[in-house]
Amino acid sequence: MKPVIYVTRRIPDEVLQPYRDSFEFRMWEKEDVPVPRDVLLKEAASADGLLCLLTETIDHEVLTAAKNLKIVANMAVGFDNIDVEAAREHGVVVTNTPDVLTETTADLTFALMMATARRLIEAADYIREGKWKYWTPYLLAGSDIHGKTIGVVGMGRIGEAVARRAKGFGMSILYHNRSRKENAEQELGAVYKDFPELLQEADFVVSLIPLTEQTSEMFNQGAFKAMKSSAIFVNASRGGTVDEEALYDALINNEIRAAGLDVFVNEPISPKHPLAGLDNVVCLPHIGSASAATRTKMLELCLDNLKAVLNGEQAITPVK
Ligand code: DGY
Repeated sequence: MKPVIYVTRRIPDEVLQPYRDSFEFRMWEKEDVPVPRDVLLKEAASADGLLCLLTETIDHEVLTAAKNLKIVANMAVGFDNIDVEAAREHGVVVTNTPDVLTETTADLTFALMMATARRLIEAADYIREGKWKYWTPYLLAGSDIHGKTIGVVGMGRIGEAVARRAKGFGMSILYHNRSRKENAEQELGAVYKDFPELLQEADFVVSLIPLTEQTSEMFNQGAFKAMKSSAIFVNASRGGTVDEEALYDALINNEIRAAGLDVFVNEPISPKHPLAGLDNVVCLPHIGSASAATRTKMLELCLDNLKAVLNGEQAITPVK
């Protein structure tokens, strides 16, 4: 009998095809809607492996229901949706998808910086709404990116990839991280700063830190007050690293100039979300790694991890 893999969202058949000899796949058949909790609990009970997304909470309850489970392969580099400690107690390996999404996510992060600084969404809407009558000296004038200072908070793989792009734009690079990154200091001229210093000095403050107990709401009222009034805040990691009310207050009180957000505390957000209603905020629906090629690579890495672990081998990208 082949091991049973439960896939929590419909994924393309051509991605699954090469693995069909090894596994019996069961799948939540909807592409746009997450699997309901009761269905997940029922399906997990007979699964040897789970291929899940960041929309699923994998906790004690799921792990207890899933008696045969050996591996949870999360289709994301972030894994704050999984109780990793509980998985360890249940003897279940957890894997994520680092590396394959680094450059794609860095592209989007940089695009978000640029869209926010140069007001690209407002500008496109300006035409769509029939407002463009004349060329005007300060029409939709934004902030420069080149020559400015970027402060990367969370200098992991994606942080370094963003910093490389920043170097190409002639930016000065500051970073804050749990540990020093000597290679980034040497190769990119990145300068380590403690968090308060970085907030004071950066023109662009970019959050790329994973969400943990320590980083929860790290960007709070005090952090926004410490930033320059011309600062642009960009978040491409997890919404929970930000106190959204404090961010909203900072934006409407002109304590910072603008924000570019790919992630939110509770996703999805509606157009009524206070931050979505502000002209100086660019909101995106968590698409950091969303190029078709990268999303396929993420799925393949999940499947390769499942294959390795269910064959009794080491996982390729286990969560430590
Ligand atoms: C991740 O990988 O953690 C992203 O948020 C989804 O690509």
